[in-house]
Amino acid sequence: MTKKRIGVLLSGRGSNFEALAASVAAGRIPTAEISIVLSNRENAPGIEKARALGIDARVIPSKGLEREAYDKLVLAALREKEVDLVCLAGYMRLLSPQFVAAFPHRILNIHPSLLPAFPGLEPQRQALDHGAKFSGCTVHFVDESLDAGPIVLQAVVPIEDRDTPELLGERILREEHRIYTEAVRIVLEGRYCIEGRRVLVNLERGAAKN
Ligand code: GAR
Repeated sequence: MTKKRIGVLLSGRGSNFEALAASVAAGRIPTAEISIVLSNRENAPGIEKARALGIDARVIPSKGLEREAYDKLVLAALREKEVDLVCLAGYMRLLSPQFVAAFPHRILNIHPSLLPAFPGLEPQRQALDHGAKFSGCTVHFVDESLDAGPIVLQAVVPIEDRDTPELLGERILREEHRIYTEAVRIVLEGRYCIEGRRVLVNLERGAAKN
């Protein structure tokens, strides 16, 4: 069976990338391989982690480039590796319409809140400041808007009175690692269909492709 090729885009720590890589290695996403990891930031720890795993990992600095020109470089690298699915894993850039159009329903993002609540920066702090009793994380298809696009999976994390953004973030991160793997598997196995904004997921493994 030919494997589906994943391209990961990140800007920092790379724990979601590591979780995906561990899932691929352990056979939890049996149909996939991670073909390339790209970062816009030179010193992103995620790049070193990818290299340590023997994955092609490249930095494409964005400084001085317009969004479209930058995205062309990223697209070229993804095409060179014949990537089937793009996973944003802490990639702190908006994608250009051209990029989104190049991978229709083939770009996933993970965000540490229950979208559409608390998009953008510091969503854990936003949830606490708002006084929310529950937060969590969301894996969604990417469109041209920030932290929008049809939702594939979410996980709920209760907020505790003693929480700080860091404590809440740690509990959310554990759920992120779990549901990103599950979402990638669902998408690569084609176990979903999209109706409007709704992603209807067939939870049965091995179900026919839509
Ligand atoms: C994760 O919490 C991810 O959900 C978030 O950045 C962090 C990256 O951590 N992404 C966003 O906020 C996207 N809007 P990681 O580098 O350890 O995966």
